[in-house]
Amino acid sequence: MCDDELIPPSADMTEEQWLRADPALAEGPVGERVRAMRAPRRRAVLGGVVAGAAALTVLPGGGTRAAAAARDGKFPLPTAPNRSGEYAVLLTGDAGTGEEAQHAVAAAARAVCRAEGVSLAVGLGDNIYENGPESDHDSEFRTKFEDPNSGLDFPWLMALGNHDCSGLIPGSGGDPSRGDREVSYAKGSPRWYMPSRYYNVALPSAGGGDPLVEFFAVDTNPVSSYVAQLDPHYRWDGPYMREQRRWLDGALKASRAHWKIVLGHHPYLNNGKHGSAGSYDGFVIGHYTSGIHLKELYEEVVCGRADLILSGHDHTLQILEPTTRTGGTRQIVCGAAGKAGDGRAHFGHPATWQNFSDHGFMVLKVSGRAMTVDAYTVDVATRTARLAQSVRTKSPVRSAAALT
Ligand SMILES: [Fe+2]
Repeated sequence: MCDDELIPPSADMTEEQWLRADPALAEGPVGERVRAMRAPRRRAVLGGVVAGAAALTVLPGGGTRAAAAARDGKFPLPTAPNRSGEYAVLLTGDAGTGEEAQHAVAAAARAVCRAEGVSLAVGLGDNIYENGPESDHDSEFRTKFEDPNSGLDFPWLMALGNHDCSGLIPGSGGDPSRGDREVSYAKGSPRWYMPSRYYNVALPSAGGGDPLVEFFAVDTNPVSSYVAQLDPHYRWDGPYMREQRRWLDGALKASRAHWKIVLGHHPYLNNGKHGSAGSYDGFVIGHYTSGIHLKELYEEVVCGRADLILSGHDHTLQILEPTTRTGGTRQIVCGAAGKAGDGRAHFGHPATWQNFSDHGFMVLKVSGRAMTVDAYTVDVATRTARLAQSVRTKSPVRSAAALT
């Protein structure tokens, strides 16, 4: 059984209560991991030394962009659209396994990114399976991110997922503070872009003036965790979520970008097995497991103001329809870069296209004229991508035309 398929026996338990309530969990592989996590973390200490050295000396990928990054240590954010007049952005989610499927998806993406003039990537959370990083320089940053993505030499706008914020139980989302390690790691990585736990990035228009597109990366974990948050700072109604909501509301309001795109690991709407915010994994009670307060955040702050919500969590590829319910905002789920889904739809939200079986990624292309999402499925054995669907939107969500 995959760790992220673990479902708590009841909503909003603490992790200790969860383990006590299900002795099989405590005795099984999870219990072994919990005991290992409680033991001295020799691997993490040694790994930190190795990863730190690698960050200083190894810049895979070659080429002029790599050389530029080697000079100042960072791949630069794009400052102008490509020759097609677009910003082309690689979208991946739930990638960080370090296993063959992740490498195959990245290899397939390399060919597409070269052809499409991609200059930016998005990582939609669950960046480091299964427990998240053990330190700011955990060797897993190299084995589950830098190495697989070698040659994808541009900044990666990273969002935090539940596995990145694991507590005692891998994937629980029970220790949001663990995400600080990913913020810290970003300071020394050429690719990993995460200046803070939530942030926005605007890309300029070709002729100057208002930005063409702006990304808003959101931390959805404190209001979607499988367990209750024990740290008062990260409670659903605590200072962290209140401040994040204030920031997101203000940043969306202030943005003058033509296109606005919200990145959040947990989806608002989702036809995959985890379901949608407010009823995640069948739970409709409690402040955490159900995701009810993330539903409120999406509906009260994001819907009707952002053109896209990009999410992972479900290991599937879904391009859902913008509807009256979403205020014209389109939900996209792109979480199949490391793991694949269970092959079937569990819910029936209107979808333009969806795939529940294959690994894959997407490429988002934005210009002043249109925004296009290309969905690619990947054959892991041959490491090749197939363009499965292309969806084009001409009007930003603030126009009623976005709904037609
Ligand atoms: Fe997840």
